[in-house]
Amino acid sequence: MKPIEQENIYTDEVDYANTPDNSVWGTEDKATTDLLDRLDITGKWLNLCAGDGRFNNKLLEKADEVIAVDIDENALQKLARIAPKPLRKKLTTKIINIVKPFSFENNIFDGVFCVGTLHLFPRPVFKGIISEIGRILKSDGRIIIDFATDIKRTYPNGSLWIVENEPNYTLEEALLFLREIFQDYTVNIKTGHVDPEKVKINKGEYVFTSNFILMDAVK
Ligand SMILES: C[S@@+](CC[C@H](N)C(=O)[O-])C[C@H]1O[C@@H](n2cnc3c(N)ncnc32)[C@H](O)[C@@H]1O
Repeated sequence: MKPIEQENIYTDEVDYANTPDNSVWGTEDKATTDLLDRLDITGKWLNLCAGDGRFNNKLLEKADEVIAVDIDENALQKLARIAPKPLRKKLTTKIINIVKPFSFENNIFDGVFCVGTLHLFPRPVFKGIISEIGRILKSDGRIIIDFATDIKRTYPNGSLWIVENEPNYTLEEALLFLREIFQDYTVNIKTGHVDPEKVKINKGEYVFTSNFILMDAVK
């Protein structure tokens, strides 16, 4: 699906039907995997901007129900295809644009998981998304997000791909920003560095490096 950056639709023209089963968005990093292993993931979870299924099978193993949403239907088709058959009955997929009000009732999710995506959105748009997450989350519900900072996407010829509108926070800026936005939540934060990761999408292959914040917050 073509991106429309001016409308905060950060899709990529990936032909998901013809990519291997592992995610085009890289490996499932250890920090997030460990967090998902350690936390109590039960009830109804929303995998927001779920892409082509990174971590989705892990959520399906633990939660009672997973609703995976994304604006890109082809990504969701791949995500459903790679879900292990016995777990598929717990999975629903739905196309939504997260910069619009979410088409879910108030207080219905036990958890919301969103990785690899939220750092793309300009600050006011990000705030709107977090407010919608807060609305659909039960009290005591949990948000798990990651947030890439100090991002570099380097093509083989050394040039950089800059995503239009992307704030590209430093680690310090993002920590301040997140602490302010989540001041009413009980927050746990871990920071680290993403090892250089090759990403192959239709814009070509590039190497992604960044720092990251992994946040787990309870409402
Ligand atoms: C970098 S990928 C990350 C996917 C997945 N969460 C992961 O970490 O592997 C970003 C995802 O956000 C989706 N996306 C971008 N803009 C969106 C929007 N406005 N509404 C819903 N999904 C969007 C894209 O289609 C893509 O699947």
